[in-house]
Amino acid sequence: MRIVCIGGGPAGLYFAILMKKLNPTHSVTVVERNKPYDTFGWGVVFSDATMDNMRAWDAETAEAIEIAFNHWDDIELRFKGRTIRSGGHGFVGIGRKKMLNILQARCEALGVELVFEQEVESDLQFPDADLIIASDGINSRIRSRYEDVFKPDIVTRPNRYIWLGTNKLFDAFTFFFEKTEHGWFQAHIYKFDENTTTFIIETPEHVWQAHGLDRFDTDQSIAFCERLFAHHLEGHRLMSNARHLRGSAWLNFQRVKCDRWHHFNGRSHVVLMGDAVHTAHFAIGSGTKLALEDAIELTRLFGEEGDTPEHIPDVLERYQAVRNIDVLRLQNAAWNAMEWFEVCGERYCDTLEPEQFMYSMLTRSQRISHENLRLRDQSWLDGYERWFAQRAGVQVAPDASPPPMFTPFSLRGLTVPNRVIVSPMAMYSAEDGVAGDFHFVHFGSRALGGAGLLYTEMSCVSPDARITSGCAGMYKPEHVDAWRRIVDFVHTNSPAKIGMQLGHAGRKGATKLAWEGMDEPLEAAAWELISASPLPYLPHSQVPREMARADMDRVKGDFVRATKMAAEAGFDILEFHCAHGYLMSSFLSPLTNRRQDDYGGAIENRARYPLEVFAAMRAVWPADKPISVRFSCHDWFPGGNTGDDAVAFARLFKAAGADIIDCSSGQVWKGDSPVYGRMYQTPFADRIRNEVGIPTIAVGAIFEADHANSIIASGRADLCAVARPHLADPMWTLHEAARIDFAGVEWPKQYVSGRSQYETNLRRSLALAAT
Ligand SMILES: Cc1cc2nc3c(=O)[nH]c(=O)nc-3n(C[C@H](O)[C@H](O)[C@H](O)COP(=O)(O)OP(=O)(O)OC[C@H]3O[C@@H](n4cnc5c(N)ncnc54)[C@H](O)[C@@H]3O)c2cc1C
Ligand SMILES: Cc1cc2nc3c(=O)[nH]c(=O)nc-3n(C[C@H](O)[C@H](O)[C@H](O)COP(=O)(O)O)c2cc1C
Repeated sequence: MRIVCIGGGPAGLYFAILMKKLNPTHSVTVVERNKPYDTFGWGVVFSDATMDNMRAWDAETAEAIEIAFNHWDDIELRFKGRTIRSGGHGFVGIGRKKMLNILQARCEALGVELVFEQEVESDLQFPDADLIIASDGINSRIRSRYEDVFKPDIVTRPNRYIWLGTNKLFDAFTFFFEKTEHGWFQAHIYKFDENTTTFIIETPEHVWQAHGLDRFDTDQSIAFCERLFAHHLEGHRLMSNARHLRGSAWLNFQRVKCDRWHHFNGRSHVVLMGDAVHTAHFAIGSGTKLALEDAIELTRLFGEEGDTPEHIPDVLERYQAVRNIDVLRLQNAAWNAMEWFEVCGERYCDTLEPEQFMYSMLTRSQRISHENLRLRDQSWLDGYERWFAQRAGVQVAPDASPPPMFTPFSLRGLTVPNRVIVSPMAMYSAEDGVAGDFHFVHFGSRALGGAGLLYTEMSCVSPDARITSGCAGMYKPEHVDAWRRIVDFVHTNSPAKIGMQLGHAGRKGATKLAWEGMDEPLEAAAWELISASPLPYLPHSQVPREMARADMDRVKGDFVRATKMAAEAGFDILEFHCAHGYLMSSFLSPLTNRRQDDYGGAIENRARYPLEVFAAMRAVWPADKPISVRFSCHDWFPGGNTGDDAVAFARLFKAAGADIIDCSSGQVWKGDSPVYGRMYQTPFADRIRNEVGIPTIAVGAIFEADHANSIIASGRADLCAVARPHLADPMWTLHEAARIDFAGVEWPKQYVSGRSQYETNLRRSLALAAT
């Protein structure tokens, strides 16, 4: 085949090497606009795993890189006058120039034609090529030329960064955080050869502008950074090697992804590779890894399908299909890490102590979890767990401290023994609102299963507040007796606490039981619905009546009565349900609140009625008992609430005396499209907790102890609510404790003889799975 690579960065050069190795009869040319020794940037870093991959594909290149690279294991944080270091992270740093020279030399040795100092205008300059690799970097001209085909999606991020170097040497991947009068700057630092260290400085746009850096040239910017980091640089200078760039040397990261990766131009197949088709932020240091792995995958597929021109279309289809998945996964992690650095100044730097800040930084991509950290550096994690447990008020033995999810947590006069909540879940099994035997067994067994706090299902404040005729209620004296029986059982037989979620269905009421048709309106015996505005939930649902002042007063009275009844029944905490499109939520969301009075329009107006009800509940609920508020932090629908609105609501509820915000999302508008994934709602809990300064509950796809520990330890939430896993396993908490080998949690005394057999069998099956 005749192959031309446009652009001689890591992608183009490495693909040329691998294809020439696969079949030396291929004619391979790399065309590069720069001279061989002319490059931007300083060092690049990638993980040990990338090196292993390279070794398997071309031992010679890997060996040359290994000789030239700097290897280190540690990550060091310098923050608020403290230095914290953890090990086991395994990175390789190499000068970009050095790496390109190694790849160039290997190309020459294998007979790849290298053409330097040639600017390529178009792929059509190579009409004889069977395959053209557009490895021309982030500003790919070839990608722009076929924009209609590739459909690039390019997002410019808000932070500014400058890529500098220094001769001050650091023996760890080091991060500095420095506060100025306008905000925070951070530096990402890694040594890449005997004399030089990469020094990337980053700050939000508004901080950058406030310092006038938008008007500084490169030298002035360098002088500013030298002053800012003077005590770390200890007399060393910062250097730029991007003087050829015009204007400010400060850049904004651009995240690139493409819909389609290849195109037939009439003569040749053109395929995008490396930064031309996808970018990953330097916070995760994987741009070069992705470029190299693209080259590996495309070569592998030619090896598998056949490396002759007729196979090119199939190979390129498979290349996109396979690589797209890996790339998206990595881009997600890179996005998380990038966002962490974008918001850390506003969210974490001022609020978190250095220990927790370090933990938060290490887990920023959310690919590294609590148990990963244990594998990387057990002694650091042990120390952190000890620190966390002490902060939670636990008397810690020197060699054993509980993992974060097994530490207690207090709000007002309530202390829960651990951080796991059985999330509220409607069971549709009550008769006229009465929680019966099913509920008794349901809550009883979950209380015995180790969770620290159980929430009841949404218990409705009046008969017409119910979602279905099977929903539990808190509006008749019998309800108090029925719930008291459950509350007493929980208190007498377990260390768990129990809370009642109170709500009103609003426009989502008068529907069938879930298993008879979720959200489907009752055909007979439906009751009248009320809501913020007269909008049906489904097109064929009953149209609710817009609430008048009298309705508002009545419903507020119902909530107050239910609150008093919950206190009478002995509940430890209340949750005010303002989520998921029910009555209170229908006020909060602009999608469902179209009112023209004081209760519609701006955020303060939309929150006004829920806040009135909350204040009335708070006034009659015992002062030493807390109230949580659950709302949908994102409507996942255009025109609906987003995270910004959730922050505003959290501030309002905090000011009104809410103790903790339970951060759910969605179910407000039919046709919403949530972005699901592991712990997918936790970012809302994180943002509200650290920007508003109120405790939060994370919920949604938290299904392993490792998730809960990572969330709690990093300070992204204070408690984790776990719903569906508790339907599958009432003993979820005890079983997860066994899975992470934590013995410090007690089983009910009646069940103790089952424990050691369970733990032994689990250990065996985990060991078997690991082999
Ligand atoms: C601040 C910063 C830090 C980074 N740190 C890391 C890191 O630690 N680890 C990591 O893995 N990655 C890192 N990266 C990303 C990494 O540099 C890129 O992801 C990687 O270089 C992509 O390789 P590539 O071959 O696709 O593109 P490039 O390396 O950009 O190569 C493209 C080549 O094409 C040439 N070219 C472009 N247009 C033409 C044309 N019209 N004619 C001829 N030649 C052309 C260019 O001169 C260039 O040599 C970092 C990036 C930045 C900005
Ligand atoms: C069967 C079922 C019933 C639910 N009922 C309620 C409810 O009454 N009140 C509420 O706020 N959330 C309710 N939810 C939502 C859960 O509390 C939780 O937020 C959601 O299931 C996500 O958590 P998970 O991924 O752990 O299941 C219910 C969920 C399920 C599965």
